Amino acid sequence: MDLIERLSIIHRERFGIPPLHVVRAPGRINLLGEHVDYNDGFVLPAAIDRAAYIAFSPTTAPHSTLEAVDFDQQASISAETLPTKTQIDASPLPEWGLYPAGVMWALLEAKIPVMPMNAVFASNVPRGAGLSSSASVEMAFMLAWQTLGGWELPPMQRALLGQKAENRYVGVNCGIMDQFASACGVENKLLLLDCRSLEWKTLPLPDTVSIVVADTGVRRKLTSGEYNNRRAACEEATRLLQRDLPHVKSLRDVNAEEFDRLAKKLPEEIGKRARHVVEEIGRVKQAEASLEAGDVGNFGRLMNECHVSLRDLYEVSCPELDAMVEIAQSLEGCYGARLTGAGFGGCTVNLVSNEKIEAFVQKLAKGYESKTGLRPEIYITRAANGAELVE
Ligand code: GLA
Repeated sequence: MDLIERLSIIHRERFGIPPLHVVRAPGRINLLGEHVDYNDGFVLPAAIDRAAYIAFSPTTAPHSTLEAVDFDQQASISAETLPTKTQIDASPLPEWGLYPAGVMWALLEAKIPVMPMNAVFASNVPRGAGLSSSASVEMAFMLAWQTLGGWELPPMQRALLGQKAENRYVGVNCGIMDQFASACGVENKLLLLDCRSLEWKTLPLPDTVSIVVADTGVRRKLTSGEYNNRRAACEEATRLLQRDLPHVKSLRDVNAEEFDRLAKKLPEEIGKRARHVVEEIGRVKQAEASLEAGDVGNFGRLMNECHVSLRDLYEVSCPELDAMVEIAQSLEGCYGARLTGAGFGGCTVNLVSNEKIEAFVQKLAKGYESKTGLRPEIYITRAANGAELVE
C-alpha cells in the first residue's frame, strides 16, 4: 500500500471521514554551494522524489489535531498554545510538533489566517540525514493551511515564512536553501538560487547521468550547535574584513583575490571557514557555466573540490562521510561525490553515469560496509517538483 493510501485510511479511522486533500512537499539534495546560503551566496539544490505527505480536512473545532504516523503520536495545537510550545491539554509539544506549530506561528505573525484542521502525516525523507526532512514538513503544512485558508502565497514567500518558523520558533538559524528547494523544486532540473536577491532559475542535468544518494547511517546530535557556530565564524570574518573592505556586507562580497590578500589578517580558524565560503561561491559560478555547456566532467570535479573544502576548511565532515566519498570517487562512472547538507553525518550525493550505475551502487555499498562495518542505504533519486496538492 502506498503512503497516501495509508494516510487516507488512518485519517478515516481517527476522524471518521476521508481526508479532503493530500499534499506532498519534498526533501532536497544540494549539488553545490554548501554553507553559503547564510552568506548571501549561490546554491544549487534540487527537490527529490522523497517527501512529507499530509492527508487533511477542515474541522469545526477551535484547534488543529495532527497525527504523526511515523511517531505514532498526536498533538492538538491552537493560536493560544503556540507561545508556550504546548498542546491544548497543556502538555509539552513533542519535538516533531515544533515544525507545524512553527508554521502556524509564522503565518499568524504575518496576519495570515490559519484554519483548524485534522491532519495525518508521514514522510519517507530520512530524518537527520541532511535531506531537509524538517523543511519538507514545514512546506507541507504551509501548503495544507494555504489550501484550506483560500489564500495564496507564491512558493518563495512560503519558503521565507518556513525559514522564519525554523529560525524564530524551532530555534535553528538555517538559511533559505532547504525551504526554497522544497517549495520551488522543478522536475528533472537543478535550481540555481541567488540567496541575496532570491532570484532563481533552473539548470539542466544531462540525461546521461543520475543522482545517487548514499546514507552513511551516521547521525550526529550536536549539529545545530556546530551549525550556529559556523555561522558565527562567517559573521566574525565579515566584520574583520570590513576593516579593509568597508563595502562588504557578507562574504559574498569578497572576491578570491581580495581574500588571498587579506586572509593572513584573520585568526586561523576564522580564515579557514571564510576561505571555504569565498571559494565555494566561486565554484557555483563555474558550475553554472559547466552545466549550461553540458560539461558533467567539470561539474563533478567542482563537487569533489567542495568535499575537500568542507572536510579540511569548514570541518563539517566525519570519517564515515569521508569513507563514502573516497570509495565513490574511486569507482568507474562517478563524476563527483561529496557530502550534502549541513554535514556531521547523513548523506553523500553522487553524480554517476547511467551506464555504470548498478555496479556503482553495489560496489559503494560493499566497500562502505567493509570499511566501516555499517550497512548504508543507497538509492538513485531524481529531481522532483516542489510542494504540491496531490488530491
Ligand atoms: C542546512 C541548512 C541550510 C544550509 C545547509 C548547508 O541544511 O538548513 O540552510 O545552510 O545546512 O549548506
